[in-house]
Amino acid sequence: MKIFLETFGCQMNEYDSELIRSILRSHQHTFVENLDHAEVALLNTCAIRENAHEKIYHRLDELKGRKRRQKNLVVGVLGCMAQNLRQELAEHAPIVDIVAGPDSYRRLPLLINSVRGTGEKGFDFSLSEYEAYSDIAPQRMPGVNAWIAIMRGCDNFCTFCVVPYTRGRERSREPQNIVAEVHRIAAEGFKQVTLLGQNVNSYRFEQHDFADLMQMAAEVDGIRRVRFTSPHPKDFPRKLLHTMAANPKLCKHIHLPLQAGSDSVLERMNRTYTKQEFLDLVAEIRAIVPEISLTTDVICGFCGETDEDFEETLEVMRRVEFDSAFTFKYSERKHTIAERKFKDDVPDEVKLQRLTRLIDLQREISKQHNAAEIGKIFEVLVEEPSKKNPHEWLGRTDQNKGVVFWDDAVKPGDFVQVRINAAGTNTLRGTVERQGWRRLPVTAVEAECCAI
Ligand code: SAH
Ligand code: SF4
Ligand code: F3S
Repeated sequence: MKIFLETFGCQMNEYDSELIRSILRSHQHTFVENLDHAEVALLNTCAIRENAHEKIYHRLDELKGRKRRQKNLVVGVLGCMAQNLRQELAEHAPIVDIVAGPDSYRRLPLLINSVRGTGEKGFDFSLSEYEAYSDIAPQRMPGVNAWIAIMRGCDNFCTFCVVPYTRGRERSREPQNIVAEVHRIAAEGFKQVTLLGQNVNSYRFEQHDFADLMQMAAEVDGIRRVRFTSPHPKDFPRKLLHTMAANPKLCKHIHLPLQAGSDSVLERMNRTYTKQEFLDLVAEIRAIVPEISLTTDVICGFCGETDEDFEETLEVMRRVEFDSAFTFKYSERKHTIAERKFKDDVPDEVKLQRLTRLIDLQREISKQHNAAEIGKIFEVLVEEPSKKNPHEWLGRTDQNKGVVFWDDAVKPGDFVQVRINAAGTNTLRGTVERQGWRRLPVTAVEAECCAI
């Protein structure tokens, strides 16, 4: 069967799509890039905020039109939204033939066959305490970075969050199995690996913790950079900081989700740390790993958030000065604790005003941080042609900052020394430094394409 697979949501979902590709290929299915050529259309979905749902419903509307013309097209909804809405999704979107949650992907070949064979719809939402797909080698697109899920699920139950309900209980994969996967990706030519979990701090397998795992991944020949996402501020392991400081392959970047700055909001969110504990952790991180870059996630307009509460979030952001931040308006999710216990009482226009203030503040900070990099030289891993201008390269520093530059002698996967000579809000811009090699003055055409 020819399958079209589209992925929404986070890196964990990207990784799951690589597993799905592997499972279906081993059953002789093939994948197509163009929906026009597909016999089966699969959407691997996200449920984190309402706009994620809206995107999928919009896509399902498009598929409805297509199915009128192509009667035997099989439509499947997979992933977090499938798990969260289950029967409701099947009832409201009659064009959907298959609904399968994140722990049901081994059954996909069976579900597809039964829809094609008997026309019977197939639903599977069973969540498992053990499923980690450890025996399946993900089918990755070629590139520079490979994702590896080192654990699945989440037991933290932050009150706003749907993930514990869509991905079930937390479970860690065996370290030997993960390291074998790192060896495989190194042999395939990947230079960087990013270890994924909803809360990597709680990774544990027998006597091994997350710091041990990072160290083991870094020891694999061919892998030059090891990254991870995300840790939880409540139980950030100090051992991990010392491991990061001591090993140059472990990238000096931590994505540390703040969510909110006021203690009462943090408590209602069940984040189990206070503003002061967060600030103390940041100070300790910077003392042990001085060159660290910190990024974060922030939610505004959570249930009961007052203007004063919100000011505290801004205050923490001013004090910490993150390098960048993902900022969100609170979006109530079905089945979460917040939906059951609290009132979503901050008006949408207030949420929007707060969001704008968060974005403006972070822009200012990011701009200042980036401007301070001008004149410095960074080792940059070349990733791909820049989206804005395919005649330039996009690469990343160890601290995960995007750098755009032009050079005709490099290719993705190369490491180059780049001197920064301009800075915007989100990216740095520079020129390659080579010993005994001086760049010719830029031509007019080149100067134009280099303008920020
Ligand atoms: N496990 C990760 C979070 C994954 S979700 C972690 O704890 O870091 C990514 C981000 O989405 C969260 O950090 C949070 O900022 C945001 N988010 C989650 N649920 C949300 C909701 N209901 N409304 C708005 N933003 C939400
Ligand atoms: Fe959601 Fe909290 Fe788990 Fe992150 S740690 S996935 S925010 S419940
Ligand atoms: Fe990821 Fe969205 Fe699920 S953020 S874990 S795909 S709800």
